[in-house]
Amino acid sequence: MTSDKQTYFVTGCAGFIANRVAHLLLEQGHKVVGIDNMNDYYDVSLKEHRLAKLNGFDSFEFFHQDLEDREAVAKILDAHTFDAVINLAARAGVRYSMENPTVYMTTNAMASLYLLEEMRLRGIKKYVLASTSSLYAGQEMPFVETLAVNTPISPYAASKKAAEMMAHAHHHLYGLDISVVRYFTVYGPAGRPDMCIFRFIKWIDEGTPLTLFGDGTQSRDFTFVDDIAKGTIAAIKPVGFEVINLGGGNQPVSLNTIIEKLENLLGKKAKISNKPFHIADIKTTWADISKADKILNWKPEISLDDGLEQCVRWHQENQPWSGNITLP
Ligand SMILES: NC(=O)c1ccc[n+]([C@@H]2O[C@H](COP(=O)([O-])OP(=O)(O)OC[C@H]3O[C@@H](n4cnc5c(N)ncnc54)[C@H](O)[C@@H]3O)[C@@H](O)[C@H]2O)c1
Repeated sequence: MTSDKQTYFVTGCAGFIANRVAHLLLEQGHKVVGIDNMNDYYDVSLKEHRLAKLNGFDSFEFFHQDLEDREAVAKILDAHTFDAVINLAARAGVRYSMENPTVYMTTNAMASLYLLEEMRLRGIKKYVLASTSSLYAGQEMPFVETLAVNTPISPYAASKKAAEMMAHAHHHLYGLDISVVRYFTVYGPAGRPDMCIFRFIKWIDEGTPLTLFGDGTQSRDFTFVDDIAKGTIAAIKPVGFEVINLGGGNQPVSLNTIIEKLENLLGKKAKISNKPFHIADIKTTWADISKADKILNWKPEISLDDGLEQCVRWHQENQPWSGNITLP
């Protein structure tokens, strides 16, 4: 419990990452007002499971509400005095952004603008925006924040770029203090069922064919969710306007290596079914995290092996209900 109790508006709090952020803030003694529209892009039972973990805190208040409903959000903002808005709600799937690009713009870009405007009108100064390593597609590695990211290869990345740019304009024009945190492939217990680690564990354990896009040599800078949550909370401090990578910062790990590690943890062999590499996917990600260290005094703490073990344990403990989760 900190003596300096703050009140935070956390968007997307039934989501994978925002849920951990909200949980840590509540554990630190802060008040969290959360919002989520509980959309069914992936199995809602997972969102309900996460939300249940926050409902035990007296200082948590939840609104089942769409961020695109500007009036409804304005009412929530009027009912409290917020120290910061932490905007993690988003449409986050890269491949699905080709099927339904419109909702990526309306939620990721437009609703982010609504928030900035409502903050400006109420004098709320601090905004933390979740962005993505997907913006770096095609750039030289390790990805550093100073790279010009002007060639997004998916509607998802383009919508995040729009949100980043509008945030910068609000910093310049109205003095909002903004931290843009670019996350690198986040994984952990109760993770997203559209992402590889959740899917691979389920498929290997159930003995169903594991769909692998490409040959599995594509690699990612995997980052454990608790590390990401800590970095996001560290980014609440005043910075002016900064874009900050939050990533594992190690050499990227291939999907083939991840499969092998999960096979060992589960004691089962994967039956791999290869599909062509997806055009909207990035081949490799690798974060330069020196800026996060310098500005936020942040470094990831959880090793990939420990993190994967926690994911497998969550899967095994929750199997009775999570086994019924349908994959998007
Ligand atoms: N998971 C990753 O590896 C990763 C990587 C880079 C960036 N990010 C970003 O981090 C943030 C959190 O991602 P996540 O992995 O937790 O995804 P998630 O899908 O689990 O969480 C997002 C939450 O936002 C909610 N939401 C979506 N649209 C909404 C709307 N219009 N109104 C209210 N709620 C809405 C969803 O219901 C969901 O619960 C996102 O901004 C995402 O783009 C995630």
